[in-house]
Amino acid sequence: MKIAIVEDDINMRKSLEIAMSDYKEFEIQTFKNAKDALKGIDESFNLIITDINMPGMDGIEFIKTLGGKFEVIIMTGNATLQRAIESIHLGVKDFLLKPFDVDTLIGAIKREDKIQKVQKSIPQKSSKNPTNGFLGTSKALESALKIADKAAKTDASILLLGESGVGKEVFASYIHENSPRAKKPFIAINMAAIPDNLIESELFGFEKGAFTDASEAKAGQFELANGGTLFLDEIGEMPYSVQAKILRALQEKEIRRLGSSKEIKIDIRVISATNANLGQKIKNGEFRDDLYFRLNTIPINIAPLRERKDEILQIAQKILEQNCIKYGFDLKSFSNESQKQLLDYHWPGNIRELMSVVERAVILSENEEITPQELFLEYRGLAKRRDITEMEKELIQEVLLSSQGNLEKASKTLGMSKASLEKKIKNHEL
Ligand SMILES: Nc1ncnc2c1ncn2[C@@H]1O[C@H](COP(=O)(O)OP(=O)(O)OP(=O)(O)O)[C@@H](O)[C@H]1O
Ligand SMILES: [Mg+2]
Repeated sequence: MKIAIVEDDINMRKSLEIAMSDYKEFEIQTFKNAKDALKGIDESFNLIITDINMPGMDGIEFIKTLGGKFEVIIMTGNATLQRAIESIHLGVKDFLLKPFDVDTLIGAIKREDKIQKVQKSIPQKSSKNPTNGFLGTSKALESALKIADKAAKTDASILLLGESGVGKEVFASYIHENSPRAKKPFIAINMAAIPDNLIESELFGFEKGAFTDASEAKAGQFELANGGTLFLDEIGEMPYSVQAKILRALQEKEIRRLGSSKEIKIDIRVISATNANLGQKIKNGEFRDDLYFRLNTIPINIAPLRERKDEILQIAQKILEQNCIKYGFDLKSFSNESQKQLLDYHWPGNIRELMSVVERAVILSENEEITPQELFLEYRGLAKRRDITEMEKELIQEVLLSSQGNLEKASKTLGMSKASLEKKIKNHEL
């Protein structure tokens, strides 16, 4: 197994190199920052292990740039644990909480090795939830579904709000399937996934010769969705300049391809989704309030999984069954203690996280009954709510370390003035 370790702290890097040299089955290459790693990593690598807090490009940005092509393990301090967990959305499935000993790291690498081998051994079908629907039920889900059911019958714009992984996309397609437009197209566009300069041509299409690379005319997503539903995902990431154009298209119910003067009539229902705080973005002048009102005719709040506890074991059980079939195992079960852990954990990555934890446990478990150790939830700070002051102290400590005590640099990274950083250093007795 070929592994890249990206870590800016030289002591940490060197000690990992030394410790790992005992394991001949792992070929290790270390990088001191993300930029170097991006240059040095090619398809021959099987696993990337990265720090989060690094000068220049940070770990999360780095993982985004890798574009899901590699399995990633994150090494994180408590202070950045929350950010590490948000990266579940980017496909990260394992975390190591610092400080950890080498055995913990080796354990994580071996887990990953086993999972990759098992996954390679089965025919590559998409690991998406095959039912593509709701696998459990709870009061909070029912009340959101009730609004969705009513709204589905109308053409009103719907704004889906909720944390990452709660099922916004599942709701969007459920609404489409239950609407009069069900037989027409459902087109989803993720605003965060398209580079800013391509969003317009992606949405509205273009005529031949509209720009240098436009060798042929192409319809945009608005046109493709005609008669059906357009799902605008992560609208908080929409560039400000594009917002006015989208608003216009929705109000006038017509669009114009780039490089064309012809208006094209469109008939679409819009569902949008975000996990960003749009109110704050409007205050900051990053999101147009007129567009917000246009998109937000019916808001639907989707509760996080920790507030839908009734669903946890129901979904876990279904995912367990699906994965036992997928990997050809006899049906496994969760021990009582594992069930308790599944219920106690706070699931910051919501259903997406639950699904990946269960799939990994199915692969890793040695026996018929899945033990708490095989869920590996304790590395994620099981149900632990951390004290804010303590977290701040750790964050400052980490940033000071990575900026080698340079207060100017550290205060910039932390987004606070040098004076208030100095005060905090004194208060925390750092
Ligand atoms: N109620 C549910 N039952 C079963 N699976 C679900 C449920 N809700 C979501 N999922 C699954 O969880 C994963 C995440 O759901 P989805 O992509 O809809 O979340 P999201 O809110 O759009 O997240 P993000 O903000 O990160 O895009 C998907 O694989 C989806 O199929
Ligand atoms: Mg989504």
